Amino acid sequence: MSKPLITTVDLSVHFTIGKGIFAKQILKAVDGVSLSIEQGSFFGLVGESGSGKTTLGRALLKAAPISEGSARYEDEDVSLDLGSLEGAALKDYRKRAQLIFQDPYAALSPRMTVRDIIAEPLEVMGLTKTRAETDARVREIAEKCRLNLEHLRRFPHAFSGGQRQRISIARALVCGPQFIVADESVAALDVSIQADVLNLLKEIQNEMGLTFLFISHDLSVVAHTCDHVAVMYLGRLVETAPTRELFAEPRHPYTRALFSAIPSLDPDDRGSAQKLEGEIPSPTNQPSGCKFHTRCPHVIDRCRSQEPELEKSGGEHAVACHRWKELLAVPA
Ligand SMILES: Nc1ncnc2c1ncn2[C@@H]1O[C@H](COP(=O)(O)OP(=O)(O)O)[C@@H](O)[C@H]1O
Ligand SMILES: [Mg+2]
Repeated sequence: MSKPLITTVDLSVHFTIGKGIFAKQILKAVDGVSLSIEQGSFFGLVGESGSGKTTLGRALLKAAPISEGSARYEDEDVSLDLGSLEGAALKDYRKRAQLIFQDPYAALSPRMTVRDIIAEPLEVMGLTKTRAETDARVREIAEKCRLNLEHLRRFPHAFSGGQRQRISIARALVCGPQFIVADESVAALDVSIQADVLNLLKEIQNEMGLTFLFISHDLSVVAHTCDHVAVMYLGRLVETAPTRELFAEPRHPYTRALFSAIPSLDPDDRGSAQKLEGEIPSPTNQPSGCKFHTRCPHVIDRCRSQEPELEKSGGEHAVACHRWKELLAVPA
């Protein structure tokens, strides 16, 4: 087993919202998350919109404030406590940890050439000394991202969504990071192009030995890409497991509901897809006990009063549900 690159213990991100005559409220976007992302892994984070995935990813990049708990980054050279990171050490961390944006249309400045877009982080961080050095690095990374070198002189509007996403990926990789947060990086693309971009990310990960936190609301995308999956609901992790184990036996009722929302390929199975009922509750007014209890088909009194911990449930599989064992006998 390799070493963890990212480790969090009870990590929370709370926002204070409301101003003026409206009472201030605490919004717990991320609430007590403990996880470990091994070096070289492609770690998936799934959950409905509003579950806190983006905020967790941003906290790990020091782009959202850590309110409670801790997060560490540890590679061959450095061991960093992200909570207290500042000044030169924070600048250094920005080279090691990068974000690939969700929307390749919004992320790229229309007035810059592709070359300048990819080169900008190198220049901002002062990683290259001469223009020739910058150009060489840009060409190297563009080739890795399967961009045509001819295209470096053009502007981003000339490109399709898939090509734009390659440009964003090249920009994120140009500083030589170890850790990449890919937040819904294929959600805005046509299904036919999604697979291309996913393959590219996987190839790059293998070639460069990178570690990915791959955020997606779509469990079927995660299935084909990730080696580990964490399922998030209302700021908390409800289940984590190696992908194969999670898919073989989803244990949390929420995970099972996400699975049954995936359209089945089995023509005889069409009727069994049960939709997830209701909406995710407001994070400023969270349910007591298990946060999923308001939507769970298996709720009992205990679930309303006592919050289940995320506990090891055999091997590397962990689940936060009072009833997971007895529910194994119940068809999803
Ligand atoms: N900067 C912020 N200030 C206040 N609330 C925020 C902020 N960022 C995110 N939130 C809230 O945190 C919750 C989780 O959001 P987010 O992390 O974007 O979830 P996801 O990526 O899973 O859709 C949402 O209720 C969102 O409105
Ligand atoms: Mg998001």
